[in-house]
Amino acid sequence: MPLLPTGMRRRFVRAYWELRWKQDDPGGPWLDRDVSADIVQAVDGGWFAAGSPAIDVGCGRGDVAAWLASRGFPTVGVDIAPSAIALARKTHGEVPGQLEFVAADVCAEPLPDRRFGVFIDRGCFHQLDTRDRESFARNVAIAAAPGARFLLFVKAFRDGVPIGDPDERDRRTREVEDVFAGSFTIDRIRETHLDRFATLPGLVFWMTRRGE
Ligand SMILES: C[S@@+](CC[C@H](N)C(=O)[O-])C[C@H]1O[C@@H](n2cnc3c(N)ncnc32)[C@H](O)[C@@H]1O
Repeated sequence: MPLLPTGMRRRFVRAYWELRWKQDDPGGPWLDRDVSADIVQAVDGGWFAAGSPAIDVGCGRGDVAAWLASRGFPTVGVDIAPSAIALARKTHGEVPGQLEFVAADVCAEPLPDRRFGVFIDRGCFHQLDTRDRESFARNVAIAAAPGARFLLFVKAFRDGVPIGDPDERDRRTREVEDVFAGSFTIDRIRETHLDRFATLPGLVFWMTRRGE
């Protein structure tokens, strides 16, 4: 991303995603995925406290948000692109207090004014400009109840780095720690894929909000 002033950069990002989500086919290999195994395990295993208010950050079409709502988590999906939010509403509908979708830039605007116990980010944080990461983490931390759980999916092992490479794992872990260490502890790290073809490898950070 060129060295644009912050406001201009964020408007550019919004315009980019808005344009993508306006297409009939937004064209990402990350679309049409199943709900990731880590999310299912966090729900089924009780790592996400049953019934906690949940938020899916960078929710896109809202499939994960809708799934969480169907499993009893009152869920809000947030996305920078109003056209993604319109598509999520059209695809899944909205039920106030159970499943809602909100257009917002998580780096620039506060999250909905409530305390969430469950956070999902599958593909948002890792594509942010590094200059926007601190404000992203701050807005997430403000909205997180003490002990809130966060599944953060980030890309890893690309560019010829073999899956499982310990240096890559350390590098990605440092990137996440640099931004979230003040507000979240990392409980475990697992390998994953971030697309429907299982060709885009990544890591999932299972994190818990520090007490206040
Ligand atoms: C790779 S897509 C993943 C979509 C969805 N999470 C999924 O798993 O299918 C990244 C999403 O993050 C959204 N996004 C990017 N920057 C954002 C920001 N600053 N605030 C909120 N959403 C953002 C994009 O519009 C896009 O929908």
